Amino acid sequence: MEIIIQPSPEAACRYVAGRIASLLAAKPAAVLGLATGSTPVGVYRELIHLHQQGEADFSHAAAFNLDEYLGLPPEHPASYHHFMQENLFQHVNFNPGRTFIPSGLASDVPAACADYEAKIRAYHGIDLQILGIGSDGHIGFNEPSSSLSSRTRLKTLTPRTREDNARFFSSLEEVPHHVLTMGVGTIMEAREIFLLAFGTGKADAIAATVEGPVTANVPASVLQFHQTAKIVIDEAAASKLQRTDYYRWVFDHKPDWQR
Ligand code: F6R
Repeated sequence: MEIIIQPSPEAACRYVAGRIASLLAAKPAAVLGLATGSTPVGVYRELIHLHQQGEADFSHAAAFNLDEYLGLPPEHPASYHHFMQENLFQHVNFNPGRTFIPSGLASDVPAACADYEAKIRAYHGIDLQILGIGSDGHIGFNEPSSSLSSRTRLKTLTPRTREDNARFFSSLEEVPHHVLTMGVGTIMEAREIFLLAFGTGKADAIAATVEGPVTANVPASVLQFHQTAKIVIDEAAASKLQRTDYYRWVFDHKPDWQR
């Protein structure tokens, strides 16, 4: 696990977008794993900028999103389908036939989840996965107590996550209780993972993820088992970590070939 502390969310988003652009240059048909919510918006803004400069071409790439609310149609303003159109897809040149998001309208949920897993396998897995983190340590919508080897499936949101996400809806009552989400096991198979977190509201979850024990009570802590997971955070999200001096030293003294 590599801990990368950046001076601001903007710098962190530029860093991750740069890594995505480098991957696309090296592997134009790369398969990206995408997240929604407030955290990755700056990454998408930067990717749009790089695309406009001719430095990021998505025409051969594919994308799999982590999750969707059960019961929300794609055109619902709080659906993750809508979020991805607004924040990335309509501004860059993905082939729409190569972008995938779990369907909130699936009538046979287990079959839809199995199809999603099969589709990821058919694309030979995810090369680079972007993650945010819930204030309760969730990744995707794998809430505390999720199996650390889970696959795409139905999950029930905790009251805290529904409250955290109520800002995207007109009222708390409107936030669905159920979601479809890639599993923790699905996420762990991504070849490279960047987890982003900003602000003091994420500081406890980041401390538990990085320096706490691996536990299903903090699903993100399983990233300690991932060989290339990078935790890209601002100063505020890093504020409850114990070994920040060490993490900064490691990052500043990397050999060139590792950068
Ligand atoms: C979204 C997702 C969630 C969010 C997390 C943080 O696709 O999978 O895990 O990343 O809830 O949300 P924000 O970034 O809004 O704080």
